[in-house]
Formats: sequence, structure tokens, C-alpha cells
Amino acid sequence: MLILKKKVERDHITMKNLFNLFLIMLLVSMPILSLAANFSETCEDGSGEPGSGFGIGFGIVLEFGLYRNSCPEAESIVYSWVETAVLQDPRMAASLLRLHFHDCFVNESPLILYFGCDASVLLDDTEGLVGEKTAPPNLNSLRGFQVIDSIKADLESVCPETVSCADILAMAARDSVVVSGGPSWDVEVGRIDGRTASKQAATTSLPSPNSTVPTLVSIFQKLGLSQTDMVALSGGHTLGKAKCTSFTARLQPLQTGQPANHGDNLEFLESLQQLCSTVDTSVAITQLDLVTPSTFDNQYYVNLLSGEGLLPSDQALAVQDPGTREIVETYAADQSVFFEDFKNAMVKMGGITGGSEGEVRKNCRAIN
Ligand code: HEM
Ligand SMILES: *[C@@H]1O[C@H](CO)[C@@H](O)[C@H](O)[C@H]1NC(C)=O
Ligand SMILES: *[C@@H]1O[C@H](CO)[C@@H](O)[C@H](O)[C@H]1NC(C)=O
Repeated sequence: MLILKKKVERDHITMKNLFNLFLIMLLVSMPILSLAANFSETCEDGSGEPGSGFGIGFGIVLEFGLYRNSCPEAESIVYSWVETAVLQDPRMAASLLRLHFHDCFVNESPLILYFGCDASVLLDDTEGLVGEKTAPPNLNSLRGFQVIDSIKADLESVCPETVSCADILAMAARDSVVVSGGPSWDVEVGRIDGRTASKQAATTSLPSPNSTVPTLVSIFQKLGLSQTDMVALSGGHTLGKAKCTSFTARLQPLQTGQPANHGDNLEFLESLQQLCSTVDTSVAITQLDLVTPSTFDNQYYVNLLSGEGLLPSDQALAVQDPGTREIVETYAADQSVFFEDFKNAMVKMGGITGGSEGEVRKNCRAIN
């Protein structure tokens, strides 16, 4: 029943269609479109099925199986590097998943409304280009760049200049979820690597851990992602860690001595406060899901219901809004509904692409 209801919501995208139509009309007159069309023609090998058309995208057509002929080993190469990296460091799964998210959510150009998953997050600072790695949400926080380098180096030796860095990020995100015990899904490919980055856009477009539910909903909605997608994707916080500076706002009820908000778990907050006061706060980190930190499961939602969400933006989903609360309750009660919605939302998020010329980078850290 619930799944059915959500399906109906998902199909109800008339406004988005209208918006897409507007964007397409805007772009028909721009040379960029023909460039991008040219690019997809060169790369097309005709083996894939057309993409599902989720998300906001234009100019780039994502599809399944694009590399089946051009680089048949691509998927297995990515998987084996991710598997090895996560065996050595279980947190690496979280870090790779987050890289894809931070890639897709930043639109680099004010002229082209959306660029999305374009591997801009991987670019180092070079002469004439400031990367996104030093933007506040990313600085001393993003990890996993070396794993992507290893995958890219391996792919370049097997099938040079074929698999984009943005596609590597999308496949590595999926594989990270799989090796952590989560669901698997087919990753659409065909993304191109951008030739720009924007530290400014990375600073302003990524959600803050202090965001309220309406802010989160609006940030996701601008990218074509629904409230359900937002709550499902937040479930990525079933993996990985956060620094004390990311959740200081959670400790406020203790510091101000004010009565706890509905849903606050004082014992939990006190343990966080202890952690963050006894160690150097700039380096202190703790698990986003304390109960099963390295397993991709629905425990994150169970934690939210007992007031043990780590980030303010996590806990908010369970206490600030009856709509998001209901989704949290559904996922906490039934992991399979969470997995289904998470897969769909990841495909949608991975489909935020398009808008400008690009390339298949030889080195993910620098434009060719
Ligand atoms: C809903 C809005 C979101 C906010 C406000 C948010 C914010 C944050 C923050 C502040 C951290 C900790 C950073 C640090 O302290 O170094 C974090 C970590 C993380 N985020 Fe999110 N995030 C959001 C959505 C997502 C999504 C959509 C995904 C992926 C599907 C995701 C995956 C992760 C993962 C896996 C980590 C742990 C990374 C690691 O341990 O290396 N987040 N997030
Ligand atoms: C398309 O690619 C060809 C070479 O493959 C090039 O000569 C042509 O200028 C390109 N067209 C556009 C619009 O960029
Ligand atoms: C969140 O709010 C707290 C104050 O409540 C502040 O100290 C912290 O810097 C804020 N974090 C971010 C990422 O904006």
C-alpha cells in the first residue's frame, strides 16, 4: 500500500516536466547542446537501453551497459578496488558514497543551471582552476581520492579514455553500498567529466548539518529529488563518521540548560558532549550510526526514533515534520522499503547531469 502510494507521488512530476521543457527550449539555441550530442554519439555503442529519464538532465543521455563493449571489465575493476579498499578500511565505503553525493549536488556554472555528476569534486587546484576540495563542506572531510586514482589508473591501462571519472564515482558509490551489506542496483553510465569546478558553488549548494527540514526539502527539490528521496538518501548516514564541529548544534540543550526538545535523548547527547570535550574537537569524530557503523542497513532510522541521530539535520527528520517522520517510521519498521527507495533515489541523484561540454579525463584530478 505504502509503496503504491509513493509510486503515484513519483509519477506526479508535471511541474518538473514543464521545467525541463523550459530548459530544453532555452538550450536549443545554444551550441553547447550540439557539442554534447556530438559527444554522446562518439561514445554510443548501441548496446545499452535508454536511461530512465529521472532527475534533471539535458545534453547527456545516461544508459545501462554503455561500457559493455567499449570496456567490458569496467564494472569488475571498480568493484574489486572498492572491495579491497573497504576490507582495509571499512569507513572507505562511506567516504566513496559521499564523494558521489558531493559531486552530483554542485552545479558549477551560474549560466548552465545544472551540471551535477561531472567529477568536479575530484579536481585538484591547478593554475587557473580552483577545485572544490577546499570548500568548507569538503575541507578535511572528503576522503577516498586515492581509491578513485587507483581505479582510474587501472581503467586507463585496460581501456584508455573510455570510462569517465564521474561514472567511476557512481559505480564506486553503488559498490560501497553493496560491500557494506546494502542493496545493489544497475548504474546508468555515460556521464562526462567537466572542465570546470566551483568552490563557491560547493560552498553554497551542499546542505548544512544545521539545515531545517524545509531547507533540506527545498535543496533536494531544486535538483528534482522529492521529500521521500531526501529521507531515503539521508540513510547514507548509516555508514561513516562525522566531526564534532558537524554536530555542535545537537549539544545546545545541554549547554543552555533548556528543557530538551521533543525527541532529544539526553544520555546520548551527554556521551557526545563528553567525546567532544575530552579530545581535540577539531579531530574528534564519531559514527553517524553508533549501533552498526559499517553496515548498510535501516538502523539509522531506528536511531532517529530513539533520539540518537548524530547530525541536527538527521534528528530533524524525525522531530520537525510529520511528513518526514512518517517516512522515517516506515523505513525503521521495514528495511526492504528503505532499500527500494534508496536505490531509486540513487539512480535519480546519479542522473543529475548535463549542461556543458566535457571529456573523459585521463587523470581524475586534472582536466586533460
Ligand atoms: C540531507 C542532507 C545531508 C547533510 C546535511 C549531510 C551532511 C553531512 C555531514 C556534516 C557529514 C560529516 C562530515 C564531517 O564531519 O567530516 C556527512 C557525512 C556523510 N554523509 Fe552526508 N549529508 C547529507 C546527505 C547525504 C547523502 C545524500 C549521502 C549519500 C547518499 C550522504 C552520505 C554521507 C556519508 C556516507 C558520510 C560519512 C563520510 C565518511 O565517513 O567519510 N550524506 N554528511
Ligand atoms: C563533432 O565532432 C566532429 C569530430 O568528431 C567535429 O569535427 C565537429 O566539429 C563536432 N561538432 C560540433 C558541433 O562540435
Ligand atoms: C551549526 O550551528 C552551530 C551553533 O548552533 C555552529 O557552532 C556551527 O558552526 C554550525 N555548523 C555549520 C556547519 O554551519
